[in-house]
Amino acid sequence: MEESAPAEDLLKVPVSKLRIGMFVQAIENNGRVNIANAGQIRTKDALAKLIKSGIKFVWVDVERSSEGSGLKKKAAAPLKPKKNRDVQQQKAQALLGEAKDLIRKVLSETFEGKAVEVAPVEAFADNMIETVLQDADAFKCVSALRTKDAYLLEHSVNVAFLLVTFGKHIGLDKSMLAQLAAGGIMHDVGKVKVDDKILNKPGRLTQEEFEHMKMHQTFAKEIMREAEGFSQISQDVCLMHHEKLDGTGYPNGLKGDELPMHARMSCIADIYDALTATRCYKEAMSPAAAFKILLSLTPHHLDQKLVYEFVRCVGVYPAGSLVELSDGRVGIVWESKDRDALHPVVKCFYSLKHKRYTDVAMIDMKKSELNIERGVSPSSLDVDPTPFY
Ligand SMILES: [Fe+2]
Repeated sequence: MEESAPAEDLLKVPVSKLRIGMFVQAIENNGRVNIANAGQIRTKDALAKLIKSGIKFVWVDVERSSEGSGLKKKAAAPLKPKKNRDVQQQKAQALLGEAKDLIRKVLSETFEGKAVEVAPVEAFADNMIETVLQDADAFKCVSALRTKDAYLLEHSVNVAFLLVTFGKHIGLDKSMLAQLAAGGIMHDVGKVKVDDKILNKPGRLTQEEFEHMKMHQTFAKEIMREAEGFSQISQDVCLMHHEKLDGTGYPNGLKGDELPMHARMSCIADIYDALTATRCYKEAMSPAAAFKILLSLTPHHLDQKLVYEFVRCVGVYPAGSLVELSDGRVGIVWESKDRDALHPVVKCFYSLKHKRYTDVAMIDMKKSELNIERGVSPSSLDVDPTPFY
């Protein structure tokens, strides 16, 4: 699992060359990078303290350093939505549409009792990996918009996407990512044979209904066997995502070492997406609230180390989520790639303070005096953020 490294646009500076006004993003001590004490150097004292501490190098954020610090700054251009981003957004939209079509086809064929074709699922998995490896912000924003009646389709795409993103984060290779994606697409295919009334029932299921719901894993087993060609990893993702480490899960009550890492990952991605989705009977949870629940399910149900890694991978303010800034404006986290978790670009459109829409503005948190105050769940807003995605 990777150590988090400073972003690429930071400058590594020997402590002896530090000046007042420079913004220290991280310090490097004995080869380890520490970002705990980020901040601007404002006084001679602070400078002297750093020199005395024996630290040899620091990472300076040029953009956030003041003019007088002697660092040459790029001409500040007003931040506009990138044209490039429009193209990516369209591509992401197309990919999502393609994914839904594919899953719709898989589900309807399964419903008709036909065997699932593996090749289109694999081809789609490859496309998804390309998106995640290039720049996933656009896809995250597009897929953050959930339609209440397409839960199964969107949940399947999102679990696949989360597994690829998570797999990349912990350094898995491309072939493994493809198998995870295919497993994610297929993971709930058995639900097509579950009674619709139970599948979409608001609120808690009775014991009897839950037993019926659990059957989706028994159906999945038959469907996967008939499909032929799905790798063991893809099959495990599909057939083990409701197992729990203490053996209380289903369908087989597998325990501890019987659950390989990819199966443990699928349990985490499945629960996280279910919690953060809007359903016809429940509102979406913010990522932070969902993380809390995931952590409460460790270590008995979920793998604790992997949950921590997942939290680090998704981040408290993932692209597509809503945040409130310190001036009371609300916006969508728009760009988070190659940035630390607290400094994304935020697309603001509403003021909670004044209870009205504002001009749409892209705020780069790296360059702004403002801070992110908190994550906001869509349901807590009295306005609909959809048009701004
Ligand atoms: Fe499931």
